Amino acid sequence: MRKLVVILPTYNEKGNVGLLITEIFDKLDTLKNWELSILVVDSKSPDGTGTEIKKLRKKYPRLYLLEVAKEGLGRAYTQAFSYLEKNINPYLVIQMDADLSHNPDSLPDLIKKIENGADFVIGSRYIRGGSIPPNWGLHRKFLSVMGNLTVKLGFMKLRISDWTSGYRAIKFWLVKKAFQHIKNYSGYVFQIAFLDFALKNNAVIGEVPIHFRERKSGVSKINFVQYIFSIFLYIFLHSSFIKFAIVGVLGFGVDFGISYLMIEILHKAVWISTLLSTETAIISNFIMNNFWSFSDKKIEGGITKFITSFLKYNLVSSGSIAIQTFGVSLLASLLGKQFWFLYKVTIITLVVIPYSYFFYNKFIWKSK
Ligand code: GDD
Ligand code: MN
Repeated sequence: MRKLVVILPTYNEKGNVGLLITEIFDKLDTLKNWELSILVVDSKSPDGTGTEIKKLRKKYPRLYLLEVAKEGLGRAYTQAFSYLEKNINPYLVIQMDADLSHNPDSLPDLIKKIENGADFVIGSRYIRGGSIPPNWGLHRKFLSVMGNLTVKLGFMKLRISDWTSGYRAIKFWLVKKAFQHIKNYSGYVFQIAFLDFALKNNAVIGEVPIHFRERKSGVSKINFVQYIFSIFLYIFLHSSFIKFAIVGVLGFGVDFGISYLMIEILHKAVWISTLLSTETAIISNFIMNNFWSFSDKKIEGGITKFITSFLKYNLVSSGSIAIQTFGVSLLASLLGKQFWFLYKVTIITLVVIPYSYFFYNKFIWKSK
């Protein structure tokens, strides 16, 4: 028997959590090989959620209550994790909203994915078979879809369909490994931080479709302005892709600056100036990418490895130069020379950036 704990964070969920707990225990009675407990982590809800749980504990011996201060959803979860490590040390935890938005009918699907080898399973609203409430207003749908798209593109991790979902099954070894990272995120952005950590540490990620329902009673505690701000800040500080794009812009500055200096001020020949400025930009980009953009997978293994990687980097970079030269000349001959700058910008954003990001990840800064 493996231990499984469903964690339910609550703040004023008296009208929902009792029914949810009954449903979960009923549902998982049929589960084989798992010993189920439920941990409610309540932020001293003024509506009496805690008292309600204490009553239910008489009926369900494997229902636990942890009372914490009101410091946000992420903080409630990390406190629950510490509590579990000390008291139960489960094999698997499931994160779930306590407002009946997350249907317990999906629990067996999440668990099955774990049994089939996943470390981190997302209950996803945005894959085939999943959904958000059809009666949500347009602005709410828009926010949810855009939020997810922003994170997806921000990390350039397109295969994850639901970055912000709060319905997840996670093996406890991964929770312990991620703890030092996720404990810094007290609000809803905690969900994104955890998934980002799991991906960077090569956890096996699975997704199963869920139907997200409207909460039964009470109100949402999310503060959208604060949430969106934290998402942008998180992506900016943690996305290799964004850092890589910034390095690209800096590299362009280096390249342009040196060319300008050599051609316009020192009156050197164009070919030598271009050669020197391009190679300097390639070298400085390589160093910035290694120690900043891809710092979590820095090149290790001594000077030989470093030089081989640098040569590979030059090879990929010559590819970028070839794509640009060919693309810009082609478009210029087809559509007219006067818009060359537009062609260059388009080709860089649509082709060169994805191309080089893909090859750097594949051949130079490989996942560990
Ligand atoms: N203990 C505790 N402390 N629980 C909290 C706190 C807190 O400070 N803030 C929220 N919760 C609980 C709520 O009581 C609920 O059970 C769950 O966390 C989700 O909170 P909601 O207020 O219902 O959030 P939502 O429905 O607007 O947000 C949904 O979307 C987010 C982003 O996509 C949820 O699915 C979130 O889990 C998800 O991250
Ligand atoms: Mn909710």
